Amino acid sequence: MNAPAASAASPAQAPGVTVQAAGIVAALPRSERIRLVSGADFWNTEAAEAEGVSAFMLTDGPHGLRKQNGAGDHAGLHDSVPATCFPTASALGSTWDVPLLEEVGTALGRESRYEEVGVLLGPGLNIKRHPAGGRNFEYLSEDPLLSGRMAAALVRGIQSEGVGACLKHYAANNQESDRMRVDTIIDERTLREIYLTGFEIAVRESQPWTVMCAYNLINGEHAGESRMLLTEVLRDEWGFDGLVMTDWIATHDRAAGIHAGLDLEMPSSSGAWDARVEAAIEAGELAEADLDIACGRVVALALKVAAERASRLPADPVTMHDDHHALARRVAAAATTLLTNDGTLPLAPRGRIALVGAFAESPRHQGGGSSLVNSTRMDTALETMRARLGGAGEVVYAPGYDAATGDATDAQIAHALAAAEDADAVVLMVGLPTSFESEGYDRSHLDLPASHERLIQALTARHHRVVVALSHGAPVHMPWADAPQAIVTGHLGGQAAGSAIVDVLFGDAEPGGRLAESYPVHVRELPSDHHFANAPTQVQYREGLYVGYRFHDTFGVPARFPFGHGLSYASFEVGEPKVTGRGTARTVTVPVTNTGERAGSTVVQVYVHDRESTLHRPAQELKGFAKVHLEPGETADAVVTLDERSFAVYDVTGAAWKVEAGEYELRIGLSSTRILATKSLRLTSGDAVAPAPGTASAIATDKEFATMLGRLVPEPRPLFPFHYDSTIDDLRTTWLGRRFAGALSGIMAKALPTDADMPDEVRETMTSFLVNMPLRALAMMSEGRLSFASLDRLIRLLNATALSTRRAARR
Ligand code: BGC
Repeated sequence: MNAPAASAASPAQAPGVTVQAAGIVAALPRSERIRLVSGADFWNTEAAEAEGVSAFMLTDGPHGLRKQNGAGDHAGLHDSVPATCFPTASALGSTWDVPLLEEVGTALGRESRYEEVGVLLGPGLNIKRHPAGGRNFEYLSEDPLLSGRMAAALVRGIQSEGVGACLKHYAANNQESDRMRVDTIIDERTLREIYLTGFEIAVRESQPWTVMCAYNLINGEHAGESRMLLTEVLRDEWGFDGLVMTDWIATHDRAAGIHAGLDLEMPSSSGAWDARVEAAIEAGELAEADLDIACGRVVALALKVAAERASRLPADPVTMHDDHHALARRVAAAATTLLTNDGTLPLAPRGRIALVGAFAESPRHQGGGSSLVNSTRMDTALETMRARLGGAGEVVYAPGYDAATGDATDAQIAHALAAAEDADAVVLMVGLPTSFESEGYDRSHLDLPASHERLIQALTARHHRVVVALSHGAPVHMPWADAPQAIVTGHLGGQAAGSAIVDVLFGDAEPGGRLAESYPVHVRELPSDHHFANAPTQVQYREGLYVGYRFHDTFGVPARFPFGHGLSYASFEVGEPKVTGRGTARTVTVPVTNTGERAGSTVVQVYVHDRESTLHRPAQELKGFAKVHLEPGETADAVVTLDERSFAVYDVTGAAWKVEAGEYELRIGLSSTRILATKSLRLTSGDAVAPAPGTASAIATDKEFATMLGRLVPEPRPLFPFHYDSTIDDLRTTWLGRRFAGALSGIMAKALPTDADMPDEVRETMTSFLVNMPLRALAMMSEGRLSFASLDRLIRLLNATALSTRRAARR
């Protein structure tokens, strides 16, 4: 059999391989090259000391460093060094503030450098397809442009400190249920326009050193084995010249991955794949040059990490952590989003304030899983508010519920009501307890805990100045939204969440956030809800392009709070926009005046509406934004530039981005529904776009979906017979499998700490990791005790026994 063509004529010509690295690789025996393309342990790469190639460390995560010096895990189970816990990505995205995110990135890079980490595993920028996605708190937005711009800013910051960033999880990884083997069925236009565009922007704008592939399959192919994604799109089209790594234990077929452009396997699989890679080369199934390219990229990155480290001095940890805590506080306020306000906010810092809610003492500030940061310190709203009021007032505190479970006793509710009596204002801190949001599982509903709703109802019924301050990583249902006098969300504000919310409540800082995702009235109205986490081996993206505001605005279904929404303590007047430039290269200049009495910021958002599209298209799409900070009375220009892609659609037939000639409208506003001015443009273009039939509703029928896909809608892969992607849980469908799964769970449970205090979300994440673990991971994690040959035999035995039992049952 002929070896498939290698990705480049010679490794030295491949993107990401330097001449020096290619030279080193050329002198290494094949076994060494195979060794180098897999990790050495959970967090470190392999070294080739004799050749001057040192190992380097990769470490989570998106909003803070999770460097583990002891046992490693990807569930937030074991300890990690203290690090600044910045607001999570859902909050960072809500700042819409590019320079600020660059500052956060720089701080993350500085802490990584201090801890001698070579690559920080973030930012994560998967699109929030459905609000119940378990990791939505780790992602930036429902919109690709905002996600891409925010991610690029973080990457620029991290890398400015000589530390590599890692865009993850590439691509179409939008749910936690069955995340390690679910097959995302998606049409190419949607993939390009919604799910890849953010990655493309971040790659082009910030040249990340690394990208992490996703666990899931896309249209039947593992993301880590897709040459289309990892080489043709990422490198050939977008010009990525870094390294691609697996997500942790995502490898499904190492040789196929190497051919596709997957350079580094993480963590170590203790050599489990080595013989297979060797055999694939011998059999001509893998070009040796592809192995050399992967190895060249690992070596090039190792050399780069070492060179950067040698050229910089480490920071002083004490000042660094002080500075970063102050930055975390500033960023948390800049992300805080004022959803409603009848003028009750900002509060006067005096009188008697009832502070209700256990989050005031135990802040809900981050989510569970691999992004869990061991914060350097933790501000609480209770202490900060007491200090802020000083002798000028009194804070009467009542927990109201249990912070960990969200449950409340009648006595706790009664205590809260008593605290609110005679108060000048009530601040009620509610939201989602930590166990509601984590990597490894999705939420099953968007409701607040019942006790939180009960408190909202009871307090708003008796008091006329109630401010609800929310902490949560993703949208919640708010049937009660009209009851309080103000609602403010701090999202998940990191270690300074407690102080930042007090800064905003008293107007010491402005609520700088604007929603980076729509908050639906009810999740059921969303088209993605009909195909989300509803089948173990497949998820169909039948809503196509209609995610978030693209759905609400096109189909006239108002969100409770629209994309881009957020009130201010200042007020702004937007003047007549000017559009300059020619063709698709346009600059929109919008004068904005702060007509209020306080300094404040606002985000001017530019949406493009295609008036004459021959294709189905969302009614409008965000194509640019600018955040302006203004003193009272000050006027400044918000400047937004547009380019060809601002008007383009992806033409699947022509495999290219194309702009249709015709009339376009630029909608300029302060949210996707608060459009303050429009400008018309006529574009000429010679592009012919192939017809792309629309769907009658936002959810494609079988026939429409097949047309979108260009083939029949594939059947989900059956759970039986078992294969490498079968999970331990799947085994329970057969008698022998049940026994085997039981034994395995027992072994794994023993490996878990017997800590009675293990937080619920960690226990839940671990359990979900175990039951969802694909069988191939057994060989990869067994440290050599279970070879793939033995795993193959085991799977054959499980299948044969199950088949004969079934046959016997039928007889
Ligand atoms: C997560 C990644 C993370 C890795 C290492 C995986 O389970 O999906 O985001 O970087 O673990 O902890």
